[in-house]
Formats: sequence, structure tokens, C-alpha cells
Amino acid sequence: MTGEAVYVDDILVNEQLLVGRVVYSPHAHARIKSFDLTKAKQLPGVHAVLCHKDIPGHNQMGPVVKDELCLAVDEVTFVGQAMFLIAAEHEDQCVEAERLVSVEYELREAILEIETAIEKNNLLGPVRTIERGNVEGALRSAPHVIKGELRTGAQEHWYLESQVCLCIPGEGREINVFSSTQHPSETQALIAELLGIGKHEVVVEVRRMGGAFGGKETQANHTACWTALLCWATRRPVKIRLFRDDDMKITGKRHRFLSQYEVGFDDEGVLSAAKFDLNSDGGATVDLSMAIMERAKLHVDNAYYVPNMSVTGRVWKTNLPSNTAFRGFGGPQGMAVIETVIDRIARYLKKDPAEIRFKNFYGLDTNDVTHYGEVVENNRLFLIYHQLMQSSEYQKRRKAVNEFNASYEFYKKGLAITPVKFGISFTTSFLNQAGALVNVYKDGTILVNHGGTEMGQGLHTKIQQVAAAVFGVSLERVKVNATNTSKVPNTSATAASAGTDLNGMAVKHAIDILKSRIAEAIAQVFTEKHPASPSLQDSVIFQDDYIIDEKHPERKIAFADAMPLMQLRQVSLSATGFYRTPDIGWDKEKGHGRPFHYYAFGMAVTEVLLDVLTGHHTILRTDILHDVGDSLNPGIDIGQIEGGYIQGVGWCTTEEIKWDDKGNLMTHSPDTYKIPSVQDIPRDFRTALLQGVPNPNTIRKSKAVAEPPLMLALSAWLAIKDAVSAAAQHEFEPEFSLPATNEVILLSIEKLKQKTSERVTEDVGAKPPLVSSK
Ligand code: MTE
Ligand code: HPA
Ligand code: MOS
Repeated sequence: MTGEAVYVDDILVNEQLLVGRVVYSPHAHARIKSFDLTKAKQLPGVHAVLCHKDIPGHNQMGPVVKDELCLAVDEVTFVGQAMFLIAAEHEDQCVEAERLVSVEYELREAILEIETAIEKNNLLGPVRTIERGNVEGALRSAPHVIKGELRTGAQEHWYLESQVCLCIPGEGREINVFSSTQHPSETQALIAELLGIGKHEVVVEVRRMGGAFGGKETQANHTACWTALLCWATRRPVKIRLFRDDDMKITGKRHRFLSQYEVGFDDEGVLSAAKFDLNSDGGATVDLSMAIMERAKLHVDNAYYVPNMSVTGRVWKTNLPSNTAFRGFGGPQGMAVIETVIDRIARYLKKDPAEIRFKNFYGLDTNDVTHYGEVVENNRLFLIYHQLMQSSEYQKRRKAVNEFNASYEFYKKGLAITPVKFGISFTTSFLNQAGALVNVYKDGTILVNHGGTEMGQGLHTKIQQVAAAVFGVSLERVKVNATNTSKVPNTSATAASAGTDLNGMAVKHAIDILKSRIAEAIAQVFTEKHPASPSLQDSVIFQDDYIIDEKHPERKIAFADAMPLMQLRQVSLSATGFYRTPDIGWDKEKGHGRPFHYYAFGMAVTEVLLDVLTGHHTILRTDILHDVGDSLNPGIDIGQIEGGYIQGVGWCTTEEIKWDDKGNLMTHSPDTYKIPSVQDIPRDFRTALLQGVPNPNTIRKSKAVAEPPLMLALSAWLAIKDAVSAAAQHEFEPEFSLPATNEVILLSIEKLKQKTSERVTEDVGAKPPLVSSK
């Protein structure tokens, strides 16, 4: 890091710049009886204090469903809901003005738990089921049935750059918006509607975000809308940058889930039936909750074939900030359920969970259709499993772990392997499209515009590589521009891990058009010099910064020398490209179809050491083998895999979100919310990319990488469960939720010890059997 990267907060603005601030609700649910802004407006240095009445257009910022007010009208429905906006010359004037705002509330009952929402039947959207086979019949005839419930927690995105936007007024109605958003086109659309102007007056630009992780797919829009409104009202540049604590309180998180399952299986642990009920805490408004629940339902199978299966999803409305996209987008919540199920089956049958996993994998030619009807093509599960079991020396280490556990009372080790199969494509099928605009200049430099945004995932680097490779030129010739809605319009969010897949193809399309125009003109140039043996457009190639006639390799011209000729010959050096993912289609009402272009696969083996007396754990070693097709950039891909895994470890272990009984977030800063630090990285971290597996029908045979590795962290969660279970000689099933905080671990160990002592007093002298690892 050089400090040269320009984030929104680093953009230089003149002395006209005002600081913006949002005044938000201190109550989870209340009627606004009255408010008075007069005093706040009179404070020196204050240029605007706005309420909902000051909105010139629609008071709306709902991304999918229009259920989200920009500024509250007569009711507030969560702590953190925006009510008023202030613009002043200095931050402290904003704070002072906020203190002068007076509001009278009438408190109302708040729903803060999924259970309460269920009791009151407070649904946020339609209930949908995906079903295959005869689940009830198969459960009745199954030799063994397990039922249970799993809670998975919320998660804060903790992007290093909090939500931020800078708006600069242009001429007339023009407004220039510099937003840290994953979805510039949606930010543009909402601002236009809010201000009551055309989208062609609003330009949204994103150079880069300082991290997003899904937290800026829709919820960057809020800060952008508020800033735009203040800019509109004052006709001055305005910036809002949320303080960390405010950001954590105001914005939504990963959805908490409360899930029930009932599964049937045989003596070998092979699943015959599964019934899942998934309940999520949507928060106060819909946001992306329906799509997130859908992805959870499409990933509750993870890597396993279940012939008879049904999964029902319910999104519940609570008085909390609307929960939103977070890396994995419901996938982690779905997968955690079936991974618990597999682990429980193994403990019930006293077998190694690895064995149960292997037996239930989707098959290569049979048992290869998911519960929603998509065929699992190019299944890499077996390839990865065999390679990773060997390279991680799983069996040998399983024995070593058992030996260790037999000889230490206060330390226990745990080991687990878990797979990931993750569907790549937006499940909202039409979103799978992208555009590009590529300009070549007379000096032979190339400026690539595309619809994707950079958030640290390395998208622009990959696009630069793609452009250079397709054009046959060196990397230095290519620059990727800041994402800008006036260059490439009507884009989808950079999300669903599909940034490179979609935009890479759109850029390639634009470059292919340019190449064919240039090739035609260059063939003419060559032919004019060699009229006796004309050069053909089709034999003109682009390679190593040259344009060459393949049939007559001595006929060549440097790329940079050729471009001025193009201008003389009146060849357009600017082209747009477009891509839409082929062969996908999904009927969410029927719960059937092919939502995904392909699947990404990976597996991880995690080994932990647990201090039985404190619940503290250390990840001793992690081995990951992940499938990225033909990697476009192994450095970036490994970074994404390791970063995703660690982010997942945070969700699985230490990141615990708590609200008090009034709906106030209690964990709103790093001293109460524990994200992974260097201490939490595996002591021995071995990450490898699966080799020799080109992905058909994608940009340069690559595969999306971004989200799937997060779910590899379930191996850390289950390794901890394994170690906890060892504290009672694997005799009883530990009660376990996610995250497995020290508290969860200690309580779980306590319960196991109680069971063990009850058992020993009943059955004096009997030695508890160790789990066999056949
Ligand atoms: N990596 C970094 N460093 N920062 C991020 O904000 N977001 C993740 C993932 N990796 C993120 C990241 C999420 S949620 C998604 S969907 C993808 O990057 C988006 O980028 P891509 O589609 O270009 O891979
Ligand atoms: N992933 C991420 N974002 C989305 C999706 C998805 O599948 N669908 C709609 N927005
Ligand atoms: Mo990622 S959760 O799809 O932005």
C-alpha cells in the first residue's frame, strides 16, 4: 500500500464543501407526534436542516420493493432510521445542530426476535417452498431420523471505509455523485427519483471502495441519497462519511437465521429425505431479503444429494435495520444447516463425518440433479476430496488428534473437512448482464470502461489482464477507468461473485469489435504495399504489441504506430460491448430451473486446539483446495480464498451481534465486536488452486472466486465442535450454535460434563468408548 489510492474521502474539493449528517431514530418503533427544527436551522454555520417535506421527488429508496423511506414521515420502525439531514460548514456545527432538533414520540411495541415475529405472523414477503420427491413418505420409511434446530448469527460487514458519498452540483439540474457503492446505476436511479429529475442529470462515479462485502450493494444508496438531497438543497458540494459507530448502528447485517430440520438416513449415513424450514430476520424493510432467502434455499443441499427434499423459507419483519447482502448471500446460512446435519449423523452412527460427507456427495453421472432441478455439471467434488484428504494427511492427523485427546484433559483438538458447492449467477436471472465501453487513443493507449466496481477484490486488475490478453498488448497500455454511469449505463450490481465473468465478457466483446475493424483496415494497408498477394482481414492477428499478417509474418506494424493510421482512414476506435449469461433460467414460483451458469467447488480441512477451561481456541492448521478454473490471477484468487475463509471464521467463531431489549445495537464498535485479527489466522495456512480444470464457456476459462471460500470456514466451526465433543469422549452430542463463541463452547462443555457424570454414577466402572474413525 502506497497511500496513493484515492477513496471518496480523499477527493479534493474546494472550500465550498459542507459536511452532512444524518439524524436518526433513537427508538425501535414509535409514532412521531411532532418535531421542531427551527433552533437547529438558526445555528451559525448550518446551511440546511431537512425533513421529509423537503424532498422534491419521491421519498423512497427501496431497491426492489418500494417500502423504504428516505426520511421518516410519521413513524420510525428501527433504531437508526433516518429522520432529518443537516449540512454545515463543520462537523461540530452538525453535532450541535442535531442537539437542537426536538422530537416528540409515542412509543410502540417493537418486535426484536424472529420468534416474536413468528408468533405475531409478521411476515415480510411471500412464503415459498422448493420440493422434490415424497419427503413425508421417505422420512417415515427411513431407518433413522434426526430432528433439530440451528441458530446462525448476524454479521457486520466491517468494510474499512465506512459508508461515504460526496455530491457536487453541476450546471442546471446536474449532480455529480462520488459514492462508495457496489451498484452505481441503482444509486443513480434512486437519486434521480428522490430529486425528481432524469437519470441523465445524475452521474455516479466509483473509483474504488475500501471494502464492501455486500454491505454496499444496496445500503450505500442511503448515504448517497442523503448526501444528494443536502447538495440539492444547498447547491454546494456536500460529503457524508458515517462514523464507524453510526455505520454499525444504521446499516443492516448478514441475516440471522433460525432453521429447523428433519432428516432420514440409513445405517451407512446416506440421506434419503430432508425437510428444512428456514426463518430469517429481514429487519424493518425488504431490501434484498427475498433473494437472500432464495439463495439460502438453493444452498441448503450444499454438496449433497438428497432424493426427497423440501425447503421452505420465511422472511420475518422485525424492528431492526433492514438486513442485507453479505458475502455468500444466504449461502452460508443454508449450508450451515446441512453441515450440522451431516456432523450429527456421523456422531449418531459413531463414524467420521468425512466419511458421511463423501457418501452423500452429488454423483458424477447419477444422483447429480439438485432439489431445484439443475444438473451438477463438471462436478469437482471427488477430485478435490481425494487430493485434499491426501495432501492434508487427514487420516494420519485424525489418529494423532484422537491420541492427543486421550492424553490431555484440559486441551482438546478437533479436525473437520467441509465442502462447498456454490452456484454462480444472480438468481434474479435478468441481472446477469454487463456492458463495456473501450476507447483506443491515437498513441496506442487503451481506456477500458465497464460496469463493475472495485472493492478490493481485484476486479479491475483482472479486467486489465483480460483486455491486454484479448488485444495482444502489454498491460501498461491498458487502463481501467473509474466506474461511471455516463460511460456504461444500466448496469447490475457488482455482486454474486460474477463481476469478472460478466464484465470480462462485455470487455472482450467490445475489443473483438475493435479488432475486427482495425484488422480490416490493416489488411488494406498491407495489401496496398503488396497488391500481388493481398492480406486478408481474417489472417490479421494481434500479438505482443504488434498487428501481424499471420500468412505473411514479415508484414507487421507496431500497435501504437497503427492507431494514427486508423484515424486517417476514418476507423472508429471506440466500441461498446455487452454480455448476457446464456443458458440460465429460473422460476422462483415453481422453485425449478437452472439458476446457475455453473458451480464453484472447494474444500477445507481445519484443525483446532481448544482450551477446555476457557473455551479459547486456536486454528492450528488449515488446508484449502479450491476450484477457480484456469486462474486469471493466482495471487488475487488465493487472496480472495484466504480472505474469504478468515471472514467466514469470524462469522463462525467470534463475531457476535447483540441488541438490547429496546432494539439498540450493543456491539457497535471494535471493542465490543470481535472481527478476526492476526491471532486468528491459522498457524499453518496451506491454500492451493485445483489445477487442470478449465471452466467451459467463461472468460478465459476462469471461474468466479469471491464468495464461495467464505463457506469453507464451516470446517473451523465443526472442528471446534469436534474438539468440544472430545471433552466428553465423543459420547454425547454437543449443543452448538453459530458463532461458536467462548461462551457457547464453555456452556456446551459444561452440559456434556453433566451428562458424563450422570452416566458415570449410573454405570460405575464403564469406560466411555472412543469414536471409531474407520
Ligand atoms: N474482496 C474484498 N477485498 N473486498 C470486498 O468488499 N466483496 C466480496 C468479494 N470479495 C469483497 C471481496 C463480495 S460480497 C463479492 S459479491 C465479490 O467480491 C464481488 O466482486 P467480484 O464479483 O468481482 O468477485
Ligand atoms: N447475489 C447477490 N446479489 C443479488 C443476487 C444474488 O444472487 N440476486 C440479486 N442480488
Ligand atoms: Mo456480494 S454479497 O454478492 O456483494
